Amino acid sequence: MIETTHLLDVDDLTAEDLETVLDRAAAIKAGEDDTDLDRQTLAMVFEKPSTRTRTSFETAMTRLGGHAIFLGPDDIHLGSGEPVKDTARALAGYADAIMARLFDHADAEELAAYSDVPVINGLTDDAHPCQTLADLLTVRERFGGFDDVTVAWVGDGNNVAQSFVLGAALADLDLVVATPPEYGIDDDVLDRAADLGSAPRLVDDPADAVDGADVVYTDVWVSMGEEDEREEKLRAFQGYQVNADLLAGSDAAVMHCLPAHRGEEITDDVVESDRSIVWQQAENRLHAQAGLLVELLA
Ligand code: CP
Ligand code: NVA
Repeated sequence: MIETTHLLDVDDLTAEDLETVLDRAAAIKAGEDDTDLDRQTLAMVFEKPSTRTRTSFETAMTRLGGHAIFLGPDDIHLGSGEPVKDTARALAGYADAIMARLFDHADAEELAAYSDVPVINGLTDDAHPCQTLADLLTVRERFGGFDDVTVAWVGDGNNVAQSFVLGAALADLDLVVATPPEYGIDDDVLDRAADLGSAPRLVDDPADAVDGADVVYTDVWVSMGEEDEREEKLRAFQGYQVNADLLAGSDAAVMHCLPAHRGEEITDDVVESDRSIVWQQAENRLHAQAGLLVELLA
């Protein structure tokens, strides 16, 4: 079993925990693990929309013999002023675990502080650790491990990038990050990655990052909640699109956490190309989270 109670970001896991979760996920995916969660319930709190996170967690709980309850912004009192700490204690009285997709990362921390059942971060403005679990499972499947694999992150130093930085450090995966200087990875995340043993190499030019990379990974330029910054961000990210020109001369696979905004951070032809492993990556959300749920709840 893993040591952590909650998963608020990837560095709540040790390197051993991460390997345990990925191994469990792979076994479940291969049909070699039939751990039964025996009617346990996952409360799923969403302040933001979701296709993959909601559906993959709910499906994982169903397949594991448990149950998930979807609690959207109009369904519970969190959105109309009930304090996070009250929601935490009430939900923890019913459910065996809470998964939450929230704006403010501090709210996820408060939820965990007041919950005596595991709290899983299903994305905040700062982090998306469940995405990283699926990403690392996908890289491991494709390359058989993390040794000698280099990933280039191209685009925004956002929640998905930040958790991936921590995951790469834990997995000892080489990572190069190309962002506009004003949209880089937070210093705090870089420090935490360094504490884990390896901070990414930071560059400004996407071509420098892609050179020699085995995987090129990108995400939207305008994340949920940043709609007011849209024009400013679109201007700042010109030159950071993952397209055929950037990938010319590279045989890198392409990852994207989805949803993709074709024509902005990535082109349609790249998403639909043979080098794209985005559907494998999306499916792996299900298996990675099943592995995590078993490790936290079984
Ligand atoms: N990648 C991801 O978290 O997708 P959703 O927003 O659809 O859940
Ligand atoms: N960075 C994106 C990820 C969506 C899964 C966002 O926060 O909107």
